Amino acid sequence: MRLQRIVGEDRAIRTNIYLRNALLGTAWSSRLEFPPGFQFGAATSSYQIEGGWDADGKGPSIWDRLFHSAANSGYFNQTGDVAADSYHQWRQDVKAAADMGLDFYRFSISWPRILPTGRTNVVSPAGVRYYSQLIDVLLAAGIKPVVTLYHFELPVTIQDLGGWTNPLIVDLFGEYARLVYSLYADRVDTWITINEGIVICDLTYNFGQFAPQIKEPTFAPFLCNKHVMLAHAKAYRIYDEEFRAKCGGKVSIANNLLWVEPVTPDDLELAELGRQHSIGRFSHPIFSKEGGWPPTTEKLMRAVSRREGYSQSRLPAFTDEEKKFVQGTADFFSLNHYTTSMIRPARAGEAPGTWFINGSAELNAVLEHPPGSTYGALDIMPIYPPGFRRLLNWVRQQYGDVEVFVSENGLATSGTNLEDHIRVDYLTRYMEQVLLAMEDGVRVTGYTVWSLIDNFEWFDGYNTKFGLYEVDFEDPARSRRPRLSAHHYACVIKHRRLKYPESCVQERRNGRR
Ligand code: NOJ
Repeated sequence: MRLQRIVGEDRAIRTNIYLRNALLGTAWSSRLEFPPGFQFGAATSSYQIEGGWDADGKGPSIWDRLFHSAANSGYFNQTGDVAADSYHQWRQDVKAAADMGLDFYRFSISWPRILPTGRTNVVSPAGVRYYSQLIDVLLAAGIKPVVTLYHFELPVTIQDLGGWTNPLIVDLFGEYARLVYSLYADRVDTWITINEGIVICDLTYNFGQFAPQIKEPTFAPFLCNKHVMLAHAKAYRIYDEEFRAKCGGKVSIANNLLWVEPVTPDDLELAELGRQHSIGRFSHPIFSKEGGWPPTTEKLMRAVSRREGYSQSRLPAFTDEEKKFVQGTADFFSLNHYTTSMIRPARAGEAPGTWFINGSAELNAVLEHPPGSTYGALDIMPIYPPGFRRLLNWVRQQYGDVEVFVSENGLATSGTNLEDHIRVDYLTRYMEQVLLAMEDGVRVTGYTVWSLIDNFEWFDGYNTKFGLYEVDFEDPARSRRPRLSAHHYACVIKHRRLKYPESCVQERRNGRR
């Protein structure tokens, strides 16, 4: 009954805006074709696949320390110590990427593998060689490396100085970025500085579960937020000033964009505030015309802080100089998207939601799952494809005609499941929404599946699988096998369409291609 009411209202809200698009969707779906030049890829991150946690002099990261600590050693009994062993098995990863015909492979560099002390006083030759070989072999296979500098792996030495809450991180990250560019920018032309600031800041400090396991939801998420913006800008400017002329590449930051919808028409304003609070805090300083924090978030944080008795906003201000330093520091808009949430005000006595991206403590709001959504293995990620198109349109409406790169999208399954029809369905429906958004005028140039192979899903360990390729974690060689979704993706790439001849998957399964 209640669900029906919400669905009805939800439809009413969207009817006008989306009627044109919905009709368009019907016409368009018969084509479902990607334009020439559209790039397809898959992604992983260093801690989640590499293993070799202390191999050849690698320094410890905050994740090594966390999973080696007595308090956490029992967690599924799982760590990233070996993971998919890509430190040794990386040629298998390149082979998987090549077998599917990927245009690019997005992977991340482990800061402490290259710089065991976190600083540039010690550079690990083995660490440098590892990524160098990977890049060379990818290029030889015709696959473009897309490199993330930071995917949650802070050296412990820097955490011990306060990590992302200490402004020192800005220069330290810059120093690390410069070193990595100097090693690989001759061969890598697409760079992502930082992956998912909202996870590094909000998820980490609001819950205190993610490394470094510090729970401090009052100031830490916002200090961290500001430093993520400045550190990204620093790395961007270093590339711009010292490498761009020679190497001509592109740099951006990958933000996690949860799409937020109102539960009822009364919640439209709250939904927009929710988007600004979660997406805008990490995008507005870079991509907006005015720079700085989103004005509505700034206002909210000022009011909340005043109510709580603070003399200043808990959201630290940017100086004019900082604002200018951050503004415009991206050559494209890189986004990770998985799911949609509905938002409504918290009722009297109801605890505001603290789910996934959060910020809702300040918003005094509760996030609900979209009615009628289905699920993969993670119930925090309802499947709701239409949200993706709306999100992409929102990005364009907010930040203009920017080039958009989908740097992650994917679905979790569990158990051994080579016939992953649910993932095939998810990827098809989400890619369809990308095509529809492109038809609406959003300039999407690339799409990335998370993940190339099964990997260590942080606190969900190895039970949660995102891979196009299954990894046998019982096998010392960590053998990889393509799932149905890998064949499907390969066929989409080959035919550049979501609908391709049935025989394509069959031929791949039979080893005939
Ligand atoms: C986003 C993160 O970048 C990645 O580390 C994680 O595994 C996936 N989402 C799936 O949760």
